Amino acid sequence: PSLEKDFLPLYYGWFLSKRSSENLRKTGQAFLDELANSKVFKKEANKHFGQATEDPKVKIDLTGYFAKRPPSVLHCTTKFTDFGKAPGADDYAQQEIVKSSYGKSFFLTTTALFITPRTVGARVELNEQQLALWPSDVDVLPPAVSFPKGSRAHITLGCASGIEAVQTGLDLLEFAKLEKAGNKALAPLCRSAKKSSWRAEKRRKCGEME
Ligand code: A2P
Repeated sequence: PSLEKDFLPLYYGWFLSKRSSENLRKTGQAFLDELANSKVFKKEANKHFGQATEDPKVKIDLTGYFAKRPPSVLHCTTKFTDFGKAPGADDYAQQEIVKSSYGKSFFLTTTALFITPRTVGARVELNEQQLALWPSDVDVLPPAVSFPKGSRAHITLGCASGIEAVQTGLDLLEFAKLEKAGNKALAPLCRSAKKSSWRAEKRRKCGEME
């Protein structure tokens, strides 16, 4: 009986279908290409993305900059349980609604694309059914700034070298913080996009091997 403790995965999330994943990657690529060609962005990029030129004719290689991309299909993490070691892991995993949702299909809606010198991602707007699967303890910027449930929901599209994927959700919360403070200068960096819907399945992931 001592071995009967539930095995917890690395994380839980919604995993896009192969086709949705490919299409969202393309959308993300188009966002980077558009920024790389934008004069305003290039000026900013010089300061923050370590580019050595202000020559508007020189294209910034954002694709190379965000070289760490999710290796398999794109996903929206719900709870990072770290094989049971993460705070709140058991509480999340034990919920009936979580257990009964494995393998179920969903449509995830993205409403914005965002970029920082660390990460690039898509903001996910969760509906009520999806919010029921969202953990209660993740919409927090350390040390203790809380945001409405689901504020952190995102899909990581890429990270700069040396940056861990966990940063994307924190960067999105930073945007939420600035938005709350009424900062509009961020528009190009957290750009609302046409609402798009992506087919996804709720799964648990044990490692990066598919
Ligand atoms: P994200 O959901 O922003 O992509 P890794 O690839 O580092 O093993 O992480 C697996 C997934 O879990 C990634 O999707 C990652 O971020 C998310 N993740 C990693 N560490 C954490 C953490 N400490 N808190 C929340 N999510 C995490």
